[in-house]
Amino acid sequence: MRKPIIAGNWKMFKTVPEALELVENLKPALAGEHRVESVLCPPFTALYAVEEALRGTSMALGAQDLFWEKQGAYTGEVSPVMLASIGCKYVIVGHSERRQYFGETDETVNKKVKAALAHGLLPIICVGESLEQREAGKTEDLVRGQVRKALDGLEAAGAAKVVIAYEPIWAIGTGRNASAADADKVAGLIRRTIAGVFDARLADGVRIQYGGSVKPENIAEFMQQPEIDGALVGGASLDAQSFVRIVRYEQK
Ligand code: 13P
Repeated sequence: MRKPIIAGNWKMFKTVPEALELVENLKPALAGEHRVESVLCPPFTALYAVEEALRGTSMALGAQDLFWEKQGAYTGEVSPVMLASIGCKYVIVGHSERRQYFGETDETVNKKVKAALAHGLLPIICVGESLEQREAGKTEDLVRGQVRKALDGLEAAGAAKVVIAYEPIWAIGTGRNASAADADKVAGLIRRTIAGVFDARLADGVRIQYGGSVKPENIAEFMQQPEIDGALVGGASLDAQSFVRIVRYEQK
């Protein structure tokens, strides 16, 4: 049984006081939530404060990116050691916004996935097609390629720990979510791709999220799909009430 995982990607939102206010508003509802693993991914500046505020709760902490070196002269970067040392459990890798604006490639994603696992962090690897790619019928090839390259050279033990987030770019922040059936189809393709690289048993244990305009109103539909095990939520994770409603979606 795969435990559902719903993560809030706060992107570049929330100062430290704003982050703490959000956490305090989430806590009464989610501190003891065990049916779903809920993960908060604040910006770097708020990670430590949020980690302190989450102590003793069942909510986990995630970062939004990392660099692959342990330390060194890499101005502006944050290492896996630093993230692990402040209690991060997860780290988002290869978000389409990083691929689009910050030169992230399948190769750097692969390096980051390996670095995360080497330091005990669980990567949430983002894949997904643009509207142009979708309309050209390239979704399957593109997503299959992104998954294969992200997992290239991993040992089975590491691959078994990753979370994959299928986030079609055209659905991010647009209010236009993928249909649950379409998202489930791509999630199934991702699972078969992992099975091809490793084996079916390993693939069966990997959690696959859907991301892109997830809201309280549509979460249940996604969670009812057999291949979808959770969600990566952007905008709707910035408001306590709406994130709580998402984590408390009606059960399958
Ligand atoms: P929205 O939920 O705002 O569409 O963002 C999705 C996303 O990019 C999560 O990583």
